[in-house]
Amino acid sequence: MKKTKLMLLIGFAALNSYAVNPIIPKPLNYTKASGELALKSIDDVMLHIVDTIPGISSPEGYMLKVTPDSAVVSAKSQAGLYYGLVTLKEMADKGNRIPACTVIDEPRFSYRGMMLDISRHFRDKEFIKKQIDAMARLKLNTLHLHLTDAAGWRLEIKRYPRLTEYAAWRKGNTWKEWNENGNKYAESTDPDAVGGFLTQDDAREIVEYAAERHITVIPEIEMPSHSEEVTAAFPDLSCTHDPAGQSDFCVGNEATFEFLENVLNEVMDIFPSEVIHIGGDEAGKQAWKDCELCRKRMEENSLENVDQLQSYLIERIEKYLNSKGRKLLGWDEIMEGGLAPNATVMSWRGTEGGIKAATGGHKAIMSPGGYCYLDGYQDAPYSQPEAIGGYLPLEKVYSYNPVPDTITPEIADYIIGVQGNLWCEYIPTAEHAEYMLYPRMFAIAETAWTADSLKNYGDFRLRAENLAADMKSKGYNVFDITHEIGNKPEAQRPENHLAVGKPVKYNIPWWNRYPAGGTATLTDGKRGGWNYNDQLWQGFLSRGDNRMDVTVDLESIQPIKYVGVEFMQLIGPGVWFPSSVQFLISDNGVDFTPLTTIEHEQKPTDGVSFKEYAWKGIARARYVRVIAKAKEGCQFADEIIIR
Ligand code: ACM
Ligand code: ZN
Repeated sequence: MKKTKLMLLIGFAALNSYAVNPIIPKPLNYTKASGELALKSIDDVMLHIVDTIPGISSPEGYMLKVTPDSAVVSAKSQAGLYYGLVTLKEMADKGNRIPACTVIDEPRFSYRGMMLDISRHFRDKEFIKKQIDAMARLKLNTLHLHLTDAAGWRLEIKRYPRLTEYAAWRKGNTWKEWNENGNKYAESTDPDAVGGFLTQDDAREIVEYAAERHITVIPEIEMPSHSEEVTAAFPDLSCTHDPAGQSDFCVGNEATFEFLENVLNEVMDIFPSEVIHIGGDEAGKQAWKDCELCRKRMEENSLENVDQLQSYLIERIEKYLNSKGRKLLGWDEIMEGGLAPNATVMSWRGTEGGIKAATGGHKAIMSPGGYCYLDGYQDAPYSQPEAIGGYLPLEKVYSYNPVPDTITPEIADYIIGVQGNLWCEYIPTAEHAEYMLYPRMFAIAETAWTADSLKNYGDFRLRAENLAADMKSKGYNVFDITHEIGNKPEAQRPENHLAVGKPVKYNIPWWNRYPAGGTATLTDGKRGGWNYNDQLWQGFLSRGDNRMDVTVDLESIQPIKYVGVEFMQLIGPGVWFPSSVQFLISDNGVDFTPLTTIEHEQKPTDGVSFKEYAWKGIARARYVRVIAKAKEGCQFADEIIIR
């Protein structure tokens, strides 16, 4: 490796870092020595390729030895040398002084990823290169580009110019506006067209820029679903041939495979990555059931259901990629009808998919929504720009361990890494994207690199504050964790009241998808946070005869002066405040007297909001019953508070 090149890439001369070892990701082993080295230039740094480093097995590992006279990096690979130099740079202060030390370091996982969705809002090559710089600093080694989705096709394909003359453009500046206005596409020449795409030259430039920083770019081309933009441009590729709203390719039509293989040929020509991501998530599969060609395909291949029809496509595409020396990666749905023999699984719907794949001898990359989806709120929603929902603060991202204790070391070996995903439906600008990425990507990077036993949130947070300040000074729009508000105040302390620990009878069951803590939930003294998904909020359906109808037994007749329940509203996923909540009391659990009914006119609100429904007065009772009804949506409650 030429040192001049390294200097250019690491920008040593222009460094403006902080002093002493507070680096992210935390190295495996750091031993301080006495004195310091004043480094004039990176040319002073000696680089050695070696056969072994004591205690290091990863090819990406390195040893860095700094004395008052010299700095030496030893590694088994060019990547290892690069990471040693990154560490050196991160340890240097403003005057390029580095404390004497020995660092012996290697990554925990071989796959350390970040995903950018440039379909929902297009981001250009300059933005992507800027994020590659940040990734290099964090020792991340894989950039996954989500290049195609309903909201726009983002890569030039020379054989199919319609993809970038039409499918890359839409009516509607933001994804939300486009969605509200009926998901219309536009000719690129239309003065109202919004969108864009990477030319093949742009993409090659990104690949090369990343490779110089030991980062592989994995392209994702969605199939068989998330493809409304393709079927709008080429209606014959869907089952119905309708140019609007067709998410799925027709798997029965040979033209689908001709199209996909032709696209993949150009993709493979641009992206040298051994692994190609083919999406595979969230297929509707409905149109396949009524399609003559799909039914014929199923009959001819003895496929019993549409899940197996999806697997037919995935396996056939896998064979194609394998024949070109490439490997297939897909979201965990690709397992539903049987997993293609050599495929790697990216687990997003929780971790079960990844564990199942690993147990079956397939490589798995962990990217569960609850820890790795950086499009959720990172702080109190009222303090943040509108997000897709959720609540994923830095500490929760950091808390993730991709290898659960429940699996054997042999199975754990198949979990090759972890990835942070930035989906961009609600992220219309470059500044906003950086704001959502950092500092949470710092946490992903440390989880990906640093041994689990060395992770410590308090220690990490201080380093994250330092790094955030430094990145800010270099022009990144980083969320300011020093002013973090944190979780909902009620969720941060136990709630003491008369009903804590008392039994609750469910006159109608809770919604089985959101049980929270089961029968204990509503009287456990634990209040929910900003997110209905935090296992503290219990869900109730309101369709048909469904409603929330529960009875708390205080186990003796007691004076009561307050009964209250808080509900959440987040209309995107269909969570609404109830339209009425009735409180009733009883001494025998059979004959109930109403205390009050609180009516509410249901109306949409932006983002997450909360509403307390409460009765105040004077009464005596053993049983308190709460009935919450709704004209719209499902309901979420965390606690029935009785005082
Ligand atoms: C996904 O979030 N649909 C992979
Ligand atoms: Zn079909």
